[in-house]
Amino acid sequence: MAKTKMAKPNIVTSRLVACRAVQLVADQGFNSDRALTEAGISKLSDKRDTSFASSISLGTLRWFHQLQALLAMLLDKPLQRKNRDLHFLLLTALFQLSKTDIARHGVVSETVNTVNVLNKKWAKGLVNGVLRNYLRQADELQRELLKSPVAETSHPQWLLNLLQTAWPQQWRNITQENNKQAPMSLRVNELRMSRDEYLDILSAANISASCSDIVTSGITLESPCSIEMLPGFDAGLVSVQDIAPQLAANFLDLQNAQRVLDACAAPGGKTAHIMEASTGKLTLTALELDPHRLQRITHTMQRLGHHVEVIEGDACNPESWWKGEKYDRILLDAPCSGSGVIRRHPDIKLLRRASDIDQLASQQLKLLQALWPLLNSGGKLLYATCSILPQENENIVHSFLSAEGTAKELDIDVHYGQSRQHGIQILPGEHKMDGFFYACLQKN
Ligand SMILES: C[S@@+](CC[C@H](N)C(=O)[O-])C[C@H]1O[C@@H](n2cnc3c(N)ncnc32)[C@H](O)[C@@H]1O
Repeated sequence: MAKTKMAKPNIVTSRLVACRAVQLVADQGFNSDRALTEAGISKLSDKRDTSFASSISLGTLRWFHQLQALLAMLLDKPLQRKNRDLHFLLLTALFQLSKTDIARHGVVSETVNTVNVLNKKWAKGLVNGVLRNYLRQADELQRELLKSPVAETSHPQWLLNLLQTAWPQQWRNITQENNKQAPMSLRVNELRMSRDEYLDILSAANISASCSDIVTSGITLESPCSIEMLPGFDAGLVSVQDIAPQLAANFLDLQNAQRVLDACAAPGGKTAHIMEASTGKLTLTALELDPHRLQRITHTMQRLGHHVEVIEGDACNPESWWKGEKYDRILLDAPCSGSGVIRRHPDIKLLRRASDIDQLASQQLKLLQALWPLLNSGGKLLYATCSILPQENENIVHSFLSAEGTAKELDIDVHYGQSRQHGIQILPGEHKMDGFFYACLQKN
């Protein structure tokens, strides 16, 4: 695999933030954003340091299972609990040595210097020895890693088991795609301008990009950039959104004057797209359980200038918020494992457990059953997840259809994705997209 190009950082503190963030994810179950905040990323003054800390921590999380195996081979015995900080420092250093083009001598010397900052001068020899041993034996160690699928693919065993069962032909490719950095894609606000017009604006700003051949609103940038660099972002011309979630608005088959419910709406990416795809002539309600996440919907709608009713409520319990008027369209973008977006959120591989999948599946089925009575006769419900596990996707639709006599499935007839017993599955990397599942159900 090609090595990641890295800018030279302003050393010690950014390295410490990176290894503390990885420790907070692995040992305390924080997600990577929160871990970076808690690790003090905002205290780094230079933008280059911030981006270095963030890319080293995300890269280490992406390759965590492989780096753990590597470190185990390099240590005579595991480090004691009180020295977990050294363990994570070594993981981040091994990531830099094995997966980036950062100068090796720099990585070794800066990592050894960081040991001073940790007040563990006694460990300088150990850290130095481990890293130099890695450099001496890299090829042999890398060959050794191929003997364990967990180490080779850098995925936990439980997830490998599920992927191998669900995707016997594709699982290897899936794990490779999961370990790549996701591209940055945009959704042009087609109420404001055409995609071609926005491409011209990008080109004038020297940002290279290409059009998606899947959705009319989608653009993928040649390399990711910060949103501050995106022309017209604050003015609502464009949003950051992968291509796969941009399919939801298409599959909903929206028409003017419909009543639409977006049942699990935050942060509001699909809510906004529904408004943009329907020339705004809809009555749209965005429902969200989590009050903090709900605020993000409100901010996004303000930025984009969309008028949407935003309700805090539980989709499993419509009596608490629903006023009794049925909907023509319902989008159920259900909470899920995120197994289709691991390339964007590598912490998922550390945070999720096998037992989560059953719990999520029962929540997903409950949501579908609770929302169905809110749909008008002839209306359509689009079930979506960013998971690639059948337990959260086609199996949910199957259980639902088996028990619900008023529901039938509509074909989603497209030239991409895998057609499944129910719905379509987009696998990560297909047409540059995230992994996503869609099934469209109609009420008789
Ligand atoms: C996959 S995310 C939705 C992403 C969103 N549709 C978008 O495109 O930006 C699922 C959301 O459902 C919310 N949620 C989970 N359980 C819910 C429930 N019972 N009722 C309403 N919202 C719920 C979660 O808080 C989360 O924000």
